[in-house]
Amino acid sequence: MMHGIFASCLALALTAPWAPLVAGQVAPIVTGDIGVVAHAFDISQVTLNDGRVQENQNRTLSYLKSVDTNRLLYNFRATHKLSTNGAQRNGGWDAPDFPFRSHMQGHFLSAWSQCYASLKDDECRARATGFVAELRKCQANSQAAGFAAGYLSGFPESEFDKVENGQSTTVVYYALHKTMAGLLDVWRNVGDDNAKTVLLNMAAWVDNRTGRLSYDKMQSVLNVEYGGMQDVLAELYRQTGDQRWIKVAQRFDQASTFDWLARDEDRLNGNHANTNIPKWYRDVARNAWDMVIGAHSYAIGGNSQNEHFRAPNAIAGYLTKDTAEHCNTYNMLKLTRELWTLEGASAENSNTRYMDFYERALMNHILGAQDPHSAHGHITYFSSLNPGARKGLGPVWGGGTWSTDYDSFWCCQGSGVEQNTRLMDAIYGYDDASLYVNLYAPSTLNWSQKGVRVTQSGDFPNVDTVTLTVSGTGTFGLKIRIPSWSQGAEVSINGAKQNVATATGTYAQIPSRAWANGDKVTIKLPMRLYLIKANDDASLAAISYGPVVLIGNYGNSGVGSAPTIRLDTLKRSSSSSGLAFTGTTSDGKSVSLGPWYDGGKDFNYVTYWKYSGSL
Ligand SMILES: *[C@@H]1O[C@H](CO)[C@@H](O)[C@H](O)[C@H]1NC(C)=O
Ligand SMILES: *[C@@H]1O[C@H](CO)[C@@H](O)[C@H](O)[C@H]1NC(C)=O
Ligand SMILES: *[C@@H]1O[C@H](CO)[C@@H](O)[C@H](O)[C@H]1NC(C)=O
Repeated sequence: MMHGIFASCLALALTAPWAPLVAGQVAPIVTGDIGVVAHAFDISQVTLNDGRVQENQNRTLSYLKSVDTNRLLYNFRATHKLSTNGAQRNGGWDAPDFPFRSHMQGHFLSAWSQCYASLKDDECRARATGFVAELRKCQANSQAAGFAAGYLSGFPESEFDKVENGQSTTVVYYALHKTMAGLLDVWRNVGDDNAKTVLLNMAAWVDNRTGRLSYDKMQSVLNVEYGGMQDVLAELYRQTGDQRWIKVAQRFDQASTFDWLARDEDRLNGNHANTNIPKWYRDVARNAWDMVIGAHSYAIGGNSQNEHFRAPNAIAGYLTKDTAEHCNTYNMLKLTRELWTLEGASAENSNTRYMDFYERALMNHILGAQDPHSAHGHITYFSSLNPGARKGLGPVWGGGTWSTDYDSFWCCQGSGVEQNTRLMDAIYGYDDASLYVNLYAPSTLNWSQKGVRVTQSGDFPNVDTVTLTVSGTGTFGLKIRIPSWSQGAEVSINGAKQNVATATGTYAQIPSRAWANGDKVTIKLPMRLYLIKANDDASLAAISYGPVVLIGNYGNSGVGSAPTIRLDTLKRSSSSSGLAFTGTTSDGKSVSLGPWYDGGKDFNYVTYWKYSGSL
């Protein structure tokens, strides 16, 4: 058990009280960022268009619009002694007797608000604001229910007494953080005053609750997973400019984790992954990111085994059913986006490592953790990487069944609804002079500050070419990510090939120019097959084509250990559409391969192979 949420705790290190920077939000932040060289667009400026990424979003949206909000309110209302309106109780991690019930609803608030931000979807807005109005009634009844003013949760305040007294390890702040983060998103993305009021009341309750503890007592409270409390409090400072929230945020600094990370020592082995990712700040965050990506991540972009980091580079030894917890990748994406803003791309340093990872994790782990046959976009907690794995063949702790409408509500179901309504988050970015194209997916950017719209089209990654079409006129340069997997990339404008450096793993930089309405930029990113070897065993590797990790289809056959694939036999079997490949294993059997993100529900699959020959 346990789980957390990341958080750009970086916010704490990066904010200064001037100039709003995030345009687009209904309620923009009032403090500016310092030290950043690039910005991601607010999701209110980006929409996904028809394509594989949008499929995931669509499925999650149908769940968001069908879920019974009275059921989601049950624990809040019952705890705050209000009528539950005859609602049915939920099961799983939202059951009325589950210790940290009500951790889930904040993710729904974030997801509804994101759906509204990106799509201007009124039904999502109504669900978000309606839910918050009900939470406000619960909070208003706190004192009548025997709690301090501002308290809001689906479990009683006495659970906090027990944690402070060392009598419980229930993750009370973890759950509280989720609600606060959801309220913040509804405030920012929808502009809802109730969300602001309820959140500020909760934050004041946190201040009161933590302000009276000694430093040592607070550190002992922090031994229990506390999600992204620093993050949401730092973001509250960004949102209000009120220094009070920075002080409260800093009470959540955990000395035992931060000190060695600041010294860049990898002592992650044995640490609970998702407890820690949300807490990392700037230098700590950079060091931690390098460690996790370099020494603790699998080919699909996920990390952790049975929720825990293992010894550095221990990949081959941990190809089990319970690898790659979904929440961790959701949190790593948030961290990666923040770190990218610190580095961007300049003439001197135009490394694409952050967005290369973002693409790998999004396109493989995140897309593929969702059930492609579920109208409601249900997801798995872990993504199994053992030979012969099968997605969704539970139990949860044995690799993960799919989530359900009302009987699971694990942490990863929460991060799933949130992540799958934020898939457009890092596709584009900007700095003073340029537009960044970080990720490839059909989408439209409404760059209202410049008065232009940019539409990205092309059936990527089934085809290796995408086109950007400019609507309106404006003057800016382009910084186009040439992924680490692509060699010989080409950029053309209105059909004319540009004489611009397109080295692998750098941003191709098109100098600033006056764009005309209808201008087209074509980006060709040749793909090839390559191996992603296990850090600790070079004889074992995943096979990737461009950004797409491929898996082998073993039907219903059991697979005891990694089969040996003959690399020289691998070939794409369909060039028209889809990414279907075939290969032959050392025993002479033919095997079909396809994207990790699409397969593995209807057949047993292999992600990591032994191999012979060469590609
Ligand atoms: C997603 O849903 C929208 C709205 O219903 C629809 O227009 C679009 O084609 C769907 N996209 C995919 C990839 O199915
Ligand atoms: C702070 O918490 C105490 C103990 O629960 C409570 O009595 C008091 O009213 C709270 N103060 C405020 C300002 O909420
Ligand atoms: C683009 O954003 C601006 C500013 O938010 C808005 O007024 C405009 O309607 C948007 N355009 C489209 C086509 O969505």
